[in-house]
Formats: sequence, structure tokens, C-alpha cells
Amino acid sequence: NVMKEVSGLHVLEERLREKLKLAEVIIVPGDSDRDQWVKTEMGKAAVNRLLPLLKSERTIAVTGGTTLAAVAEMMKPLPNRKRPLIVPARGGLGEHVENQANTICSTMAQKANGEYRLLHVPDQLSKESYQSLIEEPGVKDVLEQIRSAGIVIHGIGEATTMAERRNSSSIVFQEIEKQNAVAEAFGYYFDQDGTIVHKLKTVGLQLDDLTDDKTIFAVAGGSSKANAIAAYMKRGPRQILITDEGAANELL
Ligand code: G3H
Repeated sequence: NVMKEVSGLHVLEERLREKLKLAEVIIVPGDSDRDQWVKTEMGKAAVNRLLPLLKSERTIAVTGGTTLAAVAEMMKPLPNRKRPLIVPARGGLGEHVENQANTICSTMAQKANGEYRLLHVPDQLSKESYQSLIEEPGVKDVLEQIRSAGIVIHGIGEATTMAERRNSSSIVFQEIEKQNAVAEAFGYYFDQDGTIVHKLKTVGLQLDDLTDDKTIFAVAGGSSKANAIAAYMKRGPRQILITDEGAANELL
């Protein structure tokens, strides 16, 4: 792409790929902390990278967040009237409805002319109700589809920002403060070394489910997320990162 050659973004992509030891890095111009349209550009980049994979893969698991909402908005129908299946990666994490994986999943399916399944598992449940709910056939089937997804697309958040946005309890705040959590993804909180220091209880994909046979996209940008991205990538799968110049410059 000519714009990237001219702007030197390819050089930046290669340097960041090496630094984080990832398979692939895609950087869009701008800083999404400052300009909202940059998130849309990350969404577009993710969709462009995703579409060719859907020739051979049908199921995509998506997480929540505003970045994933932008990915969903940019989604397009596939050629040959193929209908992908979109599933939420995790159950509720305390997000507002527009940021929930379920919502993003249904938007993405609509844009793709695809199908979707939802996970109707509330955030706060007693151990007993939780256990019986995940044994329900409807829930069990969706959980199986989630685990079988060949493609996973997720966001990465800054720990305190995410805890605030989710109206987390003071216990959670104390915990992430005490443990110096800097990053959050999939409901897991990580410290600077990528060690898991806290985890929200919810069903769906666990970090250990992110095996190498899946194609995994992390979509996260904005200079304020640089630390979080670096921390998560010490532990997370070393696959595709879609980010922006703001985060990339800060990371390098
Ligand atoms: O888990 C990470 C968050 O969902 C990221 O949210 O894209 O709104 O920053 P965001």
C-alpha cells in the first residue's frame, strides 16, 4: 500500500513486530486517543486482514470494548454468500450493553450477513447457579462453538480504565492496585511482566484456550495503551497485532 510506503509505517510495523516478537503487526496512521476515526481505521484493517481467512474458516469469536465495536461496524459480507458464524468470546464482564461481546457479535454478524450465537450468562451468579447454567443444553452448545472458533479477535485495555468502566468493586480495585496490574484482556488482568494477577469469573474462552491452531487478532491502539499492549504480549499469543501509530511510537 502506497500510503504506508510513503509514511514509513512498514518500517514501524517491522520494528514493532520484532520488539514484541509477534508473527504480524499492522499499524494504521494516527492516535486513537486523540481521534476517534483512528479506531475506525483499525477496524477496517482488521476486517481486511480477516476476510481472506474466512474462505476456509467459519467461526469467529469476538470480545467486547469500543475497539471491537469499531471492527464490527467495518465488517462486510463475504463473497459467494458465505455466512460466517460470530460468537462472543466471553460472557458478561460488567460492561455497558454497547461494549458487550454479545452486542458486538450481533452487529458483526449483521454486517457480514452471517449468523450469531449469544451467551446469556449474567455477570454475578452464585457458584451453584453458575454451575447449573453452564450445564444447560443451550449454553453448553454455544460454549462448544466458542471453543471451536478458528479465529479470535480481542481488545486489550488499560487495567484501571477497564476496572472503572466495569464499575468493579473496591476489592477488585485494591487487588489490581496491590498487584500493579497494567493490562486487561478477556477479563484477565496482567502486571507489567505479563503475569495474571486477577481474573473475572465468566464462561467462554480462557487464556489457555488460545492455542496456536487458532488465528488470534489483538486490536488495540492509542498511546495510553502502549504499556498495556507490551504487558499483555509478554503472556498472550504471539500472533497478529493491529494497532495505531500513537501506540506504536510509544512502544518503540
Ligand atoms: O478488554 C479490553 C477492552 O475490552 C478494551 O476496550 O477497546 O474500549 O479500549 P476498548
